[in-house]
Amino acid sequence: MTSPLLTTGDAPEQLTLDQINATVSVEEVVAGFVPPPRFATASFATYQPDPVEPSQTAAVAQLQTYVSELAPEDKPRARFFGRWRRQAEPDGPRGIYLDGGYGVGKTHLLASSYHATSGLKAYLSFQELAYVIGAMGMVSSVEAFRRYTLLCVDEFELDDVGNTMLAKTFITNLTQGQTHIITTSNTLPSDLGQGRFAAENFRREIGQIAAAFKVLRIEGRDYRQRNYQPDTLSQGLLTDQQLKDAFTAYHSTRGAKLYASFAELTAHLARLHPISYQRLLAPLGAVFIEGLAPMDDQNIALRFVHLIDKLYDQGIHLAVSAQCDLADIFSQEYRDKGYAKKYRRCLSRIGELLQEPG
Ligand SMILES: Nc1ncnc2c1ncn2[C@@H]1O[C@H](COP(=O)(O)OP(=O)(O)OP(=O)(O)O)[C@@H](O)[C@H]1O
Ligand SMILES: [Mg+2]
Repeated sequence: MTSPLLTTGDAPEQLTLDQINATVSVEEVVAGFVPPPRFATASFATYQPDPVEPSQTAAVAQLQTYVSELAPEDKPRARFFGRWRRQAEPDGPRGIYLDGGYGVGKTHLLASSYHATSGLKAYLSFQELAYVIGAMGMVSSVEAFRRYTLLCVDEFELDDVGNTMLAKTFITNLTQGQTHIITTSNTLPSDLGQGRFAAENFRREIGQIAAAFKVLRIEGRDYRQRNYQPDTLSQGLLTDQQLKDAFTAYHSTRGAKLYASFAELTAHLARLHPISYQRLLAPLGAVFIEGLAPMDDQNIALRFVHLIDKLYDQGIHLAVSAQCDLADIFSQEYRDKGYAKKYRRCLSRIGELLQEPG
């Protein structure tokens, strides 16, 4: 059932979690294969390489060359030389893998590459890709994406054996055709999966994935920290009363506002497939979370991280009150293990979101 709130165009100023129908269809996921609002206008021109980090200038130049050389089959010249081009192309990696710490601008460069490419192109997260392949089947997915000139995949990561096998089959099949892939990750291809599952037993598959890409390593500091220092991360937090007052006073220009306690929110997230979080957020312009608290359960933590990722991508205003410092929301039990980078990246994103004006 489609919620009337999502279709009438005159949505109320305020919504509760239960009023939002968040179930998403495969068709909706496919239709959303474009960069999210935060990166809707990202371009090579607006990327400012750090003068002390030559890898940033080099990455921009290499990506610009890469996308300028993509010749879609639908161009007359490409059709004429299509056969010849394929035969002359070296057997080396066809894809580009943007590797680097969080906040160095990988996604900005990925979206810039998308915008700079003519021809059929798609932009989606690795999680969305895995979901679409799961829903459509491998053969249909390869067939569908084979028509694309460029596939931009944000946040490549391997969490388990299932998505390792899926990624290997999809990437090796797709890159045999005309499709080029650019992907971003916080982890080098050879280190994918480490600390998350018995990745050492899948060296061969991970090696095949790695072989499809040329790695561009981007060094540098977290660009988001131009607005805050990590040790001042918690300064953006409010008290419960301040949060209530901020909610009452808030008038969003771009969607409804949602106020939820942290407990309510985590219970709600557990009932949804993570692919639906984007839909949950779709009618919203602002989210107010009361009583953020340390998360003992890693499943709760990973769902929360995913929600923040989507909130961040969609550019939705966030305000939070908390029972602890932000740095302590992820339990020490798990935060230094396989998902450590994911948790640190989440804190970086919350830090930026809390600084942004509504
Ligand atoms: N060199 C830069 N010039 C201009 N804007 C930048 C630059 N680097 C990053 N940004 C901006 O900083 C924010 C963070 O960058 P981005 O999300 O691209 O980083 P990332 O490397 O993908 O990080 P993450 O690991 O969190 O995914 C974005 O708003 C992006 O547009
Ligand atoms: Mg990114």
